[in-house]
Amino acid sequence: MCGIVGYIGNKRAQSILLDCLKKLEYRGYDSCGIAIAGDGIKVYKDAVRVGTLGKSSPRFDGTTGIGHTRWATHGAPSQVNAHPHLDCKGNIAVVHNGVISNFQELRNRLTSEGHDFISETDTEVISHLIEKYYRGSLEEAVESALHDIEGSYAIIVLMPNETKLVAARKDSPLIIGIGDRENFIASDVPALLEYTDRVIYLEDGDIGVITTDSIRVRRDGSEINRKEHKVLWTVAEAQKGGYEHFMLKEIHEQPQVIRNTLGEYTRMTDSVVGLAGIRDSGIGSVLMVACGTSYHAALTGKYIIEELLSIPVRAEIASEFNYYSHVLARTVAVAITQSGETADTLKAMKRLKEVGCRVVAITNVVGSSATRIANQTIYIRAGPEISVAATKSFTAQLIALYWIAMSYSKVDARRITELNMELRQLPSQVQRVLDDEDKIIEHAKYLSGFEDVFFIGRGINYPVALEAAWKLTEVSYIHAAGYAAGEMKHCPFTLLGSNTPVIAIVAKDSTYEAMLTNIKEIKARGSPVIALIEEGDEVIEELVDSVITVPRVNTIFSPVVNTVALQLLAYYTAKERDCPIDYPRNLAKSVTVE
Ligand code: G6P
Repeated sequence: MCGIVGYIGNKRAQSILLDCLKKLEYRGYDSCGIAIAGDGIKVYKDAVRVGTLGKSSPRFDGTTGIGHTRWATHGAPSQVNAHPHLDCKGNIAVVHNGVISNFQELRNRLTSEGHDFISETDTEVISHLIEKYYRGSLEEAVESALHDIEGSYAIIVLMPNETKLVAARKDSPLIIGIGDRENFIASDVPALLEYTDRVIYLEDGDIGVITTDSIRVRRDGSEINRKEHKVLWTVAEAQKGGYEHFMLKEIHEQPQVIRNTLGEYTRMTDSVVGLAGIRDSGIGSVLMVACGTSYHAALTGKYIIEELLSIPVRAEIASEFNYYSHVLARTVAVAITQSGETADTLKAMKRLKEVGCRVVAITNVVGSSATRIANQTIYIRAGPEISVAATKSFTAQLIALYWIAMSYSKVDARRITELNMELRQLPSQVQRVLDDEDKIIEHAKYLSGFEDVFFIGRGINYPVALEAAWKLTEVSYIHAAGYAAGEMKHCPFTLLGSNTPVIAIVAKDSTYEAMLTNIKEIKARGSPVIALIEEGDEVIEELVDSVITVPRVNTIFSPVVNTVALQLLAYYTAKERDCPIDYPRNLAKSVTVE
């Protein structure tokens, strides 16, 4: 949700900032801008994507600057609302990710003190507050301004007469990148991969001050030491590597992602992996919180953990859970979040900790906010996920959940050994789905002509139906809805007909017969039906209009192969409709506002 970057060094800042902003576009992309220190501050911004801004921008030669790519919260995407924002005299430029909740009150106060505002943004109050408090030290002025501010922020401040950048964070991510006679500040690691693999993760309340050859971190007025970390992600992982879109590349990475994630857990000791709390203190239930695709992983996790651990599991949408009053203290809480920065999920985690729950985070991002709140973190090894639509992180989250459940399972040892063997075969089963891509492309061509599509599933494949519908809507702009197959007749049946194809996710388990009945009912009402089936299921082939076949796996693992097939379906349908697949309109990958 907005990406920010700052550079100070000996090279031309403009091209570095634009390059870093491109890597941050997954955080928001409705407008963007840069400010470069030179003879005063040069600002260039517009309601365009970074590539377009780079082409139209005049050349600036300064070696210090800041940049921003926006996901609008206050004020429509426009040139005037794009960041950076300046103070009255144009001496101070600010880029901001987050929401200043008391901005109206601050703006009224500053207006009465003679400050003029030109944008509708909350951010503009920050530059004016810094101007108000500036007495010769930028860091002190930033510190004073932050005392007045309520809400969330990651900010970078540029003031040309101070040869430094000042940055601060609260509830929005921010890292310092360490270079050789140059330093960086950015929202996230992928922005900097090409320049450095040495980073410092700033924490809430930190103020970072960087010059060409120094880095200082202040907190409550005194200097502190923050550890340097080596980034494990590589430049190649954050590039398209010959694929047309990141989404397709990331779908194709899934066999390796499963191997990497499993490899990570196999190396870990028993005390590190898993919900230690369940066994150690006899806690009898698990509560999972997450948003978006991660919530669909949590819902799948409910089926996995309930089956293998025989304890009740609740999966909650974090934004709803946050307004639900009753929380059981003696529950292990699992927060699932790819980015580790989703505001609603972080809020839920804090609340759960407050009432005494042990909170386990499953995340992809080292040093993310979720890892700091959690009592324990389980990393997935998905590598950088750039496409806004989550794919490989979902699969890796499922692998983490299988591993946790199998580590503490109460089912007999022989079944666990068998499941373990099957889990290790999943990469090759997923590869077979990917190898069958051409057949899925044919279905995508067919689907691309419709405006409404239903996905239905039962049991552990019900969350798969939700996720598949979500993915199709997100990237192809087709209205799609996922339903528990048994619920269709209670309402969605009213929309069945030749214009509403239904995709039925069929598992060869106890739900099979009921699913056959549902498919017949739907066919009788005129909807075309595509069934996603295991290879060798000839019974269903007879009933439906067409089938997508996936390798046969144990039902508990079927969400993995089924989801990969449906990710490809969503991708190719969107491609057929010529959609901007990696950057769907109005969305952002990291949602750091409530
Ligand atoms: C955004 C992304 C989704 C993601 C969701 C939760 O909406 O576009 O792909 O599933 O946030 O993100 P998280 O990082 O918490 O998994």
